[in-house]
Amino acid sequence: MAKTSDQYFLYDGIPFPCIAHNEESLDFARNMFQVCDDDVYSITYPKSGTTWMQELLTLIYSNGDQTLSRSVPNWERVPWIEQVSAQMYVPKLTSPRLITSHLPLQLFPKSFFTSKAKVIYTMRNPKDVCVSLYHYCQLVLFLENPQDFDVFLSSFLEGDVLLGSWFDHVQSWLGTKDQVNILFQTYEELLQDLRGSVVRICNFLGKELDEAAIDSVVENATFKTMKDNKMTNYSLVPSDFMDHEKGSFLRKGISGDWKNQFTEAQSERFDQIYQEKMKEMKGLESMFT
Ligand code: A3P
Repeated sequence: MAKTSDQYFLYDGIPFPCIAHNEESLDFARNMFQVCDDDVYSITYPKSGTTWMQELLTLIYSNGDQTLSRSVPNWERVPWIEQVSAQMYVPKLTSPRLITSHLPLQLFPKSFFTSKAKVIYTMRNPKDVCVSLYHYCQLVLFLENPQDFDVFLSSFLEGDVLLGSWFDHVQSWLGTKDQVNILFQTYEELLQDLRGSVVRICNFLGKELDEAAIDSVVENATFKTMKDNKMTNYSLVPSDFMDHEKGSFLRKGISGDWKNQFTEAQSERFDQIYQEKMKEMKGLESMFT
């Protein structure tokens, strides 16, 4: 990746896409942003289930009602704090604020660490993240278009992709488990048991929903429903930013798609690096199946 190209810039060593971020927006998020005790943060490394969690949180706090999720784009109702557009969207939020972030721990707002705010950190099998990100970079016109998966895989393993290293991101947030109010959620659990996951998320948030409301959250957050919802499927993004002819943001929505993309040698290379980098996190990989 040409990290200092007109597509990306480095902030504290992490590549950020210029289109949605600048130094001021990242400085503001880290140093000035005031976290409130009743804020709820959905944090992810890109392509790990960000949009899905935005939809779930919107629906949970709407008690299953779909009016908001059908009328306001996801980036406006659960905005990113680090993006330039935060200045526009965050002040409009009402309490409790639902906020998204892709920031690694070290760049997250300092005020968070003395607050009681809640965080849901969603993780996904990194091989599937890598494949999803590969396709996403082809779709989005302001990101470098990777022609060759093998080259992209090397960049991913080196952390030379947007938002840097998956390994560092996940480890930084997993390391907070005894210090902050955090729930770890996997994409795979959402796929396997969406209802059970919604109940667990509600318990963590202290949100009491009746059975009908839970059913409605689940029905409105399936892959099919979200793919048909123009407030969630990114079809509202102008075609000079996203090439809608090339594919969909909500692409496949499955786990294990990496098996269709990786060669055996690539998979072995990935596993070896995973073992080296994640040796402190034994057993984590069992959560991604
Ligand atoms: P794929 O590209 O593998 O299909 P993010 O929102 O973090 O950018 O992640 C996008 C990925 O989450 C895409 O993965 C997308 O299809 C998937 N996704 C979003 N909503 C989903 C849902 N309701 N069910 C399953 N997968 C979903």
